[in-house]
Amino acid sequence: MSRFPFGLPFGWYPVAWSRELAVGEALARRYFARDLLLFRGESGEAHVLDAYCPHLGAHLGVGGRVVGDTIQCPFHGWRFGGDGACVEVPYAKRRPQAARVGAYPTRESAGVLWAWYHPERVEPAFEPPEIAEFGAPDWTPEWTAYDWTVKTHPQEVAENSVDWPHFHEVHLMDPPPERDVRFVGHEILWEAATRKSVTTLDGASDEIRVIGRNPGLGSSYVRYTGMGETVIVMGMTPIDEASLHMRFGVIGKRDGRSEEEMTRFHQAYADDMAAAVEQDFPIWENKAYLPQPRLCDGDGPVPEFRRWAAQFYVPESSQAR
Ligand code: FES
Ligand SMILES: [Fe+2]
Repeated sequence: MSRFPFGLPFGWYPVAWSRELAVGEALARRYFARDLLLFRGESGEAHVLDAYCPHLGAHLGVGGRVVGDTIQCPFHGWRFGGDGACVEVPYAKRRPQAARVGAYPTRESAGVLWAWYHPERVEPAFEPPEIAEFGAPDWTPEWTAYDWTVKTHPQEVAENSVDWPHFHEVHLMDPPPERDVRFVGHEILWEAATRKSVTTLDGASDEIRVIGRNPGLGSSYVRYTGMGETVIVMGMTPIDEASLHMRFGVIGKRDGRSEEEMTRFHQAYADDMAAAVEQDFPIWENKAYLPQPRLCDGDGPVPEFRRWAAQFYVPESSQAR
């Protein structure tokens, strides 16, 4: 039995950094408790499909070849378009109508390839975040990126952003004296200001203001202002019901620093933030999910968060696989 009584939430999830998938390449990935194939056709558009060829079951992402804007199966050469439809059977006169693979809605923005997961394959109900700073002139041009596999669930990670007292205990930050959180439709908008030391920069004390936005349970993006101005994108992509692929990317504003100075500062600053993410892992990987936690008046709005999070699930009995 899964540690988490939720199933997988629908929403947008990062499935690759754009730079991981070059034109003409295919990748095998496992997300959403399914085997998937990612490929980028000649036109530059990226696609996410279920991995198994409907003919006799070969994995399209292992040895499959990108041909134009299609993927060719390594077993008998059938080809499929980005929408999953079979477009060619090289040795037959007619293509079987039912021969199609499941396709996931995708978006690509700010260096991230997003896929929409819904257990019943319902179309997207909202859009993934736009990140205007990515590619803007005064900002580092690519995500300084960190990836981890963590034995937890996206909802547990998201709950962290409204769990104020843990910032002190786990992240050794001053308890944020200023904080605010709002649950608006599919988003959580939150904000906090506090002080922390930056261990990778000789423990310099950093007065920080963090403005975060979680569009659903699959990602969050954060504007972080302190010694540097940075934007963070974080992805929580389920591998299965008890583990996820966490992505953490940071871009920084140059703010008059020379290129050399910026490279050094930005790497150290991003490493410090990534180390703070890792501080949560031992808690997440070993905690239990309590449906009825015993909360106190100093806690963050955990019950409100959970009511908000409930909108991203369909009842288990109706989940089609
Ligand atoms: S299994 Fe894919 S073409 Fe036969
Ligand atoms: Fe945390």
